[in-house]
Amino acid sequence: MRYAAITGWGMAVPERVLTNADLEKMVETSDEWIVSRTGIRERRVVGPNDSTTSLGAAAARQALERAGITAEELDLIVVATCTPDQFLVSQACLIQAEIGGNAGALDLGAACSGFVYALSQGSVHIRAGEAKNVLVIGVDTLTRFIDWSDRSTSILFGDGAGAVVLQATDEPRGLLSTVLGADGQGHKHLYIPGWGALVPESAELFPEFRPYLQMNGREVFRFAVKAMGDSAAEAVRKAGLDFSDIDMLIPHQANVRIIDAAADRLDLPREKVWVNIDRYGNTSAASIPIALFEAEASGALKEGDNLVFVAFGGGLAWAAGVVRWGTAGVGATDAPA
Ligand code: UT7
Repeated sequence: MRYAAITGWGMAVPERVLTNADLEKMVETSDEWIVSRTGIRERRVVGPNDSTTSLGAAAARQALERAGITAEELDLIVVATCTPDQFLVSQACLIQAEIGGNAGALDLGAACSGFVYALSQGSVHIRAGEAKNVLVIGVDTLTRFIDWSDRSTSILFGDGAGAVVLQATDEPRGLLSTVLGADGQGHKHLYIPGWGALVPESAELFPEFRPYLQMNGREVFRFAVKAMGDSAAEAVRKAGLDFSDIDMLIPHQANVRIIDAAADRLDLPREKVWVNIDRYGNTSAASIPIALFEAEASGALKEGDNLVFVAFGGGLAWAAGVVRWGTAGVGATDAPA
């Protein structure tokens, strides 16, 4: 059997820090409310010199260096983002222009679930023998689409990027199972109007047009608790494992209360759940690869560990997967591509 091991990882966040105290000066809110309802204390926000391209490329360079390969050796780049710098050309091509090479380059739109969707996409190419080295990037700059006077959304989001390199191996490493799902009827609960082919010519033609992220927080919360728990449990079952086999849950960082509910569903003690939402807020497609990067950097991951990635978000979509950590057998595979 051919698998897609994670052999490199990287992350990048903007320098500018926006604290809850800063937000207290912008909207009627309090540090106490934000921390108790979400777990967030601060987030990173793009400045004039940052872009989805610059953050994605910085994370990608780190991941490639860690994997010990160059961009020229990549067969495919998959970028998960809902905030591309532009729609034509793809975000993947813009990042490739920065890092080099001629790999196939495609974007994947699954909002906050995008990284797990993209990991699945990249892994499928390797497992099918179509690719040997794949770069998967999750990057979002949602603060560019935030109405800073709206306290129901402005406290939640931050910007960032995370990337992983996938490489072929004959050992069971990388994604062992995947659960992808969506409820398109729920698209109205979390979206950014306009910016697409349906964009109105002017606000007069489309009076309700507001180019900012719109969210029904309570509805998304209810959906998230169920989707995170159900899909994570299903991914563990599909991998042929028990909850007790899981070494670390690396969830999408949207709300610490949602993360706690997912951990309870898998019977996991809190030391087996990676949480960094306090420092980054919700970075959308970047949140899982940033959390993965920090978990590895802290020494929490070891060869052969079973990790669960689980995410939910705009779509409304969800995605989960069991990942066996480590690089066993990489380079030994003689399979084509
Ligand atoms: O990747 C997916 C992205 N989206 C999400 O993950 C969103 C999921 N939803 C959530 O995380 C939560 O629903 C929120 C954090 C957005 C809101 O928490 P909540 O516990 O669901 O609060 P709520 O919307 O039910 O509001 C409770 C109260 C309301 O006041 P009243 O009506 O009870 O008087 C709100 O007006 O809190 C008020 N409120 C705030 N107060 C201070 C809402 N936002 C704020 C705020 N500061 N920022």
